[in-house]
Amino acid sequence: MEQEKVLVIDFGGQYNQLVARRVRECNVYCEIYSYKTDLEQIRAMNPRGIILTGGPDSCYAEGAATCERELFEMGIPVLGLCYGAQLMTLVLGGSVERAPVREYGKTEVTVDNTSVLFSDVQRQTVCWMSHFDYISQIAPGFRVTAHTADCPVAAAEDEEKNLYAIQFHPEVLHTQEGTKMLHHFVRTVCGCSGSWRMDSFVKDSIGAIRERVGGGKVLCALSGGVDSSVAAVMLARAVGSQLTCVFVDHGLLRKNEGDEVEEVFGENGPYQLNFIRVNAQERFYKKLAGITEPEQKRKIIGEEFIRVFEEEAKKIGAVDYLVQGTIYPDVVESGLGGESAVIKSHHNVGGLPDCVDFKEIIEPLRSLFKDEVRKAGLELGIPAYLVYRQPFPGPGLGIRIIGEVTGEKVRIVQDADAIYREEIARAGLDRTIGQYFAALTNMRSVGVMGDERTYDYAVALRAVNTVDFMTAESAEIPWQVLQTVMSRIINEVHGVNRVFYDLTSKPPGTIEFE
Ligand code: XMP
Repeated sequence: MEQEKVLVIDFGGQYNQLVARRVRECNVYCEIYSYKTDLEQIRAMNPRGIILTGGPDSCYAEGAATCERELFEMGIPVLGLCYGAQLMTLVLGGSVERAPVREYGKTEVTVDNTSVLFSDVQRQTVCWMSHFDYISQIAPGFRVTAHTADCPVAAAEDEEKNLYAIQFHPEVLHTQEGTKMLHHFVRTVCGCSGSWRMDSFVKDSIGAIRERVGGGKVLCALSGGVDSSVAAVMLARAVGSQLTCVFVDHGLLRKNEGDEVEEVFGENGPYQLNFIRVNAQERFYKKLAGITEPEQKRKIIGEEFIRVFEEEAKKIGAVDYLVQGTIYPDVVESGLGGESAVIKSHHNVGGLPDCVDFKEIIEPLRSLFKDEVRKAGLELGIPAYLVYRQPFPGPGLGIRIIGEVTGEKVRIVQDADAIYREEIARAGLDRTIGQYFAALTNMRSVGVMGDERTYDYAVALRAVNTVDFMTAESAEIPWQVLQTVMSRIINEVHGVNRVFYDLTSKPPGTIEFE
């Protein structure tokens, strides 16, 4: 049976992935495509509905991202959000102009409950607005279905043609009833039945992998992170001991993490697979000696990882399939879907080893968002502590040590980070904070300990709350907890005499320091 699908057409807005995730939360499968995608290609995908995202341009400006009128004439329901709403209006004969008042932030919107999108939404509802331009005249056939004090057209629709324009962002959680509105669009207007569920996804995937692999040999690079762990277990469930997992310990993992991975996937663990651990710490430290530039560090770690992996793979000999823990945001962020700009090269360590002798790649999580990967992990019976492990970058502590990486600095960050994590868990905050870790600033400063002058490193503590890791806010950790962490780090971690807490949100900061 064909999977019901909604397409999210990306005009370069910062919330494109968020739109897709919210649609998936309505149990409807969706994929993100660039606005440059050919109309024929769109038609061939047979979508139940189309959502046009926001974007940074003015839709009336020369060279602005646009779409053809025919997109709205295919008989497929279309929902335009922000830029998408303005573009829909302009293309269909309405007007868009620079607004007399720019709207930004939480805004009270008055909605018309006769619109299917707002049928059970409160008449006055708080929505997230972010726009310079506004719809000054709706397109022929449309009627206004929402407004604010400053914006005469906060939403409009041509119900007969199933075309909907919304000026605000229902995908952002600040829009209090946004999910309801998206639910109405995908389930009621587009008529999707809501068949996208993780239990059936896992069952179907295992069956499909088993069929595809047959009696073949499969190789998987295991990092211990959520994605590669879920991919490995899925493969183990599908093909058992035909699977070999290679775990490269690059010496940039969190304290004790290498042993923890071995406990789960090694021979004493619950899974039937061949597990190989490679202790390659010294190799990585040697390659990183003297290197300070973040992207260069990422590249070196990524490349060295591939070399180590290849050496192991050669020992194993020819395999039929190579498993990659690629997830959907990797696909979108590497520019294969959507329009997003690359801020950092977020490749999973391991990239694609081109010297490994394999026939095909298996990417069992390629269509999933992170929260879906976690759900799939739970469905597969992976312990919750592993499934809810916070994200850890492929280059590991290499990008949490500002400047040159050395074994000694790794020891400092590992010890400081372990204390931080222990205290956060003790305070019962470990599941509520999105991502938190200690990093080593490259700064040394003067302090006094006992009666002695010290000249030691400063550790920075980071903790952020985030829904999507694209934007984030510094978490409010109780002062007492921070005090305890600070004094334990200074007392217990040799080489540290100062502890900072990073208050920066993203943007303008990023979550990691490098
Ligand atoms: P930033 O620092 O860009 O991080 O705000 C957003 C999320 O991505 C993770 N991150 C990486 N993950 N390779 C990875 O696999 C990388 O090079 C990398 N850099 C950042 C980061 O931990 C956060 O969850």
